Amino acid sequence: MKSEQWIEQELEGLRRESLERRLTVYGRAGGKIEIGGRTFLNFSSNDYLGLSHHPEVIRASRRYLEGHGCGATASRLVTGTLPPHEELESRLAHLKGYGTALVFGSGFLANAGLIASLAGRNDHVFADKLAHASIIDGAALSRANLKRFRHNDPEHLESLLRQCPASGRRLIVTESVFSMDGDIAPLAEIAALAVGYDAMTMIDEAHATGVFGPGGSGLIRHHGLEDRVNVSMGTLSKALGGYGGFVACSASLRNLLVNRARSFIYTTGLPPSVVGSAIGALGVIEKSQNPGAELLDRAAVFRKKLQEEGLDVSNSQSQIIPVVIGDNAKTLAAAERLKSRGILAVAIRPPTVPEGTSRLRLSLTLDHGAEELEWAAREIVEACR
Ligand SMILES: Cc1ncc(COP(=O)(O)O)c(C=O)c1O
Repeated sequence: MKSEQWIEQELEGLRRESLERRLTVYGRAGGKIEIGGRTFLNFSSNDYLGLSHHPEVIRASRRYLEGHGCGATASRLVTGTLPPHEELESRLAHLKGYGTALVFGSGFLANAGLIASLAGRNDHVFADKLAHASIIDGAALSRANLKRFRHNDPEHLESLLRQCPASGRRLIVTESVFSMDGDIAPLAEIAALAVGYDAMTMIDEAHATGVFGPGGSGLIRHHGLEDRVNVSMGTLSKALGGYGGFVACSASLRNLLVNRARSFIYTTGLPPSVVGSAIGALGVIEKSQNPGAELLDRAAVFRKKLQEEGLDVSNSQSQIIPVVIGDNAKTLAAAERLKSRGILAVAIRPPTVPEGTSRLRLSLTLDHGAEELEWAAREIVEACR
């Protein structure tokens, strides 16, 4: 159609820059993945604890499906709040050490609705330069004045806070474990700045939940910052192996979200089976005092091996280990070579990461055995040379 001619030109531009993305259909996902009948060791899954196929999680999901039906059938404020939603929110609040929790359709929707509810046109949002797209889109939706501080740099954050006009609310937003770099934010320093400059703080624990902190509660609890951080955001879609997002916060903040967060209000509640799988996953992690310990130990060994061979793993301190290559085409070539050797490590390119920092983002899961990791480390070093 003539009116769509611009689309092919746009896509051609992406192809020229090695930036076009395409969907691939995978067989069973997780630490091992199938493509066209062949099994690959998968370093691109966020199923950190291998819970997406855990028998207890599947059983729980089935129980809630059979007990409560396929769908919530309405938005949460209409008739879409069912006993499973209430149960999950109370379990999440308990895990996170906050008074209450509220479940959203996804982590993206949680961030979008939350930030736009806490800040408005005359307010100020301070976000880390590498914050996830959902945080940036939430800030854009809020129409607040968005200021980006240098990655994990509290001094820069402080200088922005100092220059900020006295009028309007202030909200500081960052991730505890960064999704593309696997490094960790200086949460205690950021929370102290928030108190000193009368700002609210919201921490995205998407990649810390289930892995870090006592009982997998995340890094806010690990540092004992529940009283200083206003909102702990998380997702059910990574270490918990399912789908959905949530925030843990005070009762009044939750009330505000129920009344203001458009991404909560104007969408159907999560289906009972999805809520059930999250409850099942919480049941599994609650059995361990430190469910992420083994994974983090394996990640430390793996990271050291790559570093010793001269690869740039940035400041990774978690189960997420980037191998920064820089050039888009070279990163794609490394990913292709690994694929030919039976390893799936998806190339991450701009705009997901800043220009010139294309990388293989390796995420380790408990489905990766020690021998497999040794072999994979050798192959990754070869592919990146
Ligand atoms: C830091 C961060 N926040 C939020 C999200 C969105 O979570 P979800 O996948 O549940 O929408 C992601 C997912 O990629 C993420 O990495």
